[in-house]
Amino acid sequence: MEQVINYINGNRDQYIEELKEFLRIPSISTLPEHKSDMYNAANFVSSKLKQAGIENVSIIETAGHPLVYGDWMNAPGKPTVLIYGHYDVQPVDPIELWTSPPFEPTIRDGKIYARGATDDKGQVFMHIKSVEAYFRTMNKLPLNVKFIIEGEEEIGSGNLDKFVKGNTDKLKCDTILISDTALFAPGIPTLTYGLRGLSYQEVEVTGPNRDLHSGSFGGSVANPINTLSQIISKLLDKNGKITIPGFYDDVLKLSKKERDNFKALPFSEKRFAKDLGVSKLNGESGYTTLERIWARPTLDCNGIFGGFTGKGAKTVLPSKATAKISMRLVPHQDPKKISKLFNKYIKQITPKTVTVKVSDLHGAYPIITPLEDKSTIAAAKAMSRAFGKKTVYMREGGSIPIVVVFAQKLKAAPVLMGLGLNSENLHSPNEHFNLNHFQLGILGSAYFLDEFSK
Ligand code: BES
Ligand code: MN
Ligand code: MN
Repeated sequence: MEQVINYINGNRDQYIEELKEFLRIPSISTLPEHKSDMYNAANFVSSKLKQAGIENVSIIETAGHPLVYGDWMNAPGKPTVLIYGHYDVQPVDPIELWTSPPFEPTIRDGKIYARGATDDKGQVFMHIKSVEAYFRTMNKLPLNVKFIIEGEEEIGSGNLDKFVKGNTDKLKCDTILISDTALFAPGIPTLTYGLRGLSYQEVEVTGPNRDLHSGSFGGSVANPINTLSQIISKLLDKNGKITIPGFYDDVLKLSKKERDNFKALPFSEKRFAKDLGVSKLNGESGYTTLERIWARPTLDCNGIFGGFTGKGAKTVLPSKATAKISMRLVPHQDPKKISKLFNKYIKQITPKTVTVKVSDLHGAYPIITPLEDKSTIAAAKAMSRAFGKKTVYMREGGSIPIVVVFAQKLKAAPVLMGLGLNSENLHSPNEHFNLNHFQLGILGSAYFLDEFSK
C-alpha cells in the first residue's frame, strides 16, 4: 500500500497534464454538433483505461453517445467494485463570463478551470489513476474492478438505463463507486448518502395563431407570456409549498435524528447568503437551508422564453410562450407519478383563452443509500485515511439518474464518494476543480480499493 501511495504522490504533475488533455475535448452531450467530440472523449477514456492496465476495454455503441467499459477480474474470491462516472459535460453558455476559455484548461490558485473539471471528468480521472498506481507498483489490484463511464449523464442517462437493464450479469458487482458529488466543505472528507430525484417538464402556452401587433390586438386576446407567468406563479404558495394536489403524498419525513445530524454540521446560513449575493434566503417555511436543499422537494422555473428577446424594443403580442420547469424530488416520490400530477394540474389551472402542451423531458428517482453497508464503511475509512480527518455524511440536492437503477438492478449499494465542491461552478461559467482535492481523491480511491478488499 505504501508503494501505491508514494507512487501517487510522486506523479501529481503528470496527472494534471493528462487531465488537461481530457478537459480539452468539448464533449457536450446535449448539442448535436458535438457528436464527434463524444467519440473523442470516449476514446480518450478507453485509451487511459488500457494504459492503466484495465482489460477488456471496449467502446459500446448505444442509440445515443457511447459507453466505455473495462474490467480487471483477476482477483478470485475478492469482491468486485463497479466504478461509474460520466465523460459528458454541460454547455458553456454564457461564454462571455468565462475568465479563460472553457476548453482551454487553465490553472489559477491551485484550481483547474475548464468545463467538466469537477463534473465529472476530473473525478472520473481520479479512479483511473488510482488503479494505474496499483498496476505500476504491485502489478495487480487487491480486488476485481469494472468501469462503466457514460456520455449521457447530463441528459438523463436514458441509454445507460437500457444497457444496465439488459446487462446485469456483465455489470454484476458488490458495490458501485461513484465520484460525482461534493465535499461538505474544502478539506473535509465526505460521503453523500442521499440524492434528490427529478421531474423535468416543458410547458408551452399558445394564444393567437401568429404574432400580433400589440397595439392593434393588445387587450383583445390573452397574451401567452402573461398567462404562462400566471400559471407558474400558482405553482407555489406564500409559504414555499408546492400547490399541486397529491405532490407531498409520498414524501419521506425528516426524522428528529437526521435533523439533529444536519444541525451538527458546520454551516452558516449567513455566509451562504453572502456568498450568493442575496440579502435574505428563501424557501419552504419550517425548514433550515440544508433541509430545504437535501430533504425537501422543490419546484423551479429553469427558463422562460417567447416573444421578442433581442436588444431594443419591438411591440409584439406573441403567439407562444414556453417555460422549463423542474421539480426536485425526495424519497419516496416517484417521478412518473409526479409528472402525471403536474400535467393534470397545469391543464386544470390553464384558462380557456389559451391552449397548453406539457412535455415530460426527463426524470430521475431519488435515493438514500444504506450507511451500514460494508462499502460505505470502507469508503468512510478510505476518505479519513486520505484526508487525515474524520469523514462526515451529507445528502445532496442534485440528481444522478442512474444510481437508483444500479442499486435496484445490480442489487448492490452505491457509494457516493465525491471530491467536488458545490462552489466549483458546475453547470455555470468558470467551472473548476481544486487540485488538492483531485490528488486526495486519487489517494481516497486507492485506499477504498484496499479497504473494500479486506
Ligand atoms: N454531478 C451532478 C449531480 C450533482 C449536482 C452532484 C450537484 C452534486 C452536486 C450531475 O452531473 C448532474 O448535474 N445531474 C443533473 C441530472 C439531470 C441532468 C438529469 C442534475 O442534478 O441536474
Ligand atoms: Mn455529474
Ligand atoms: Mn452535471
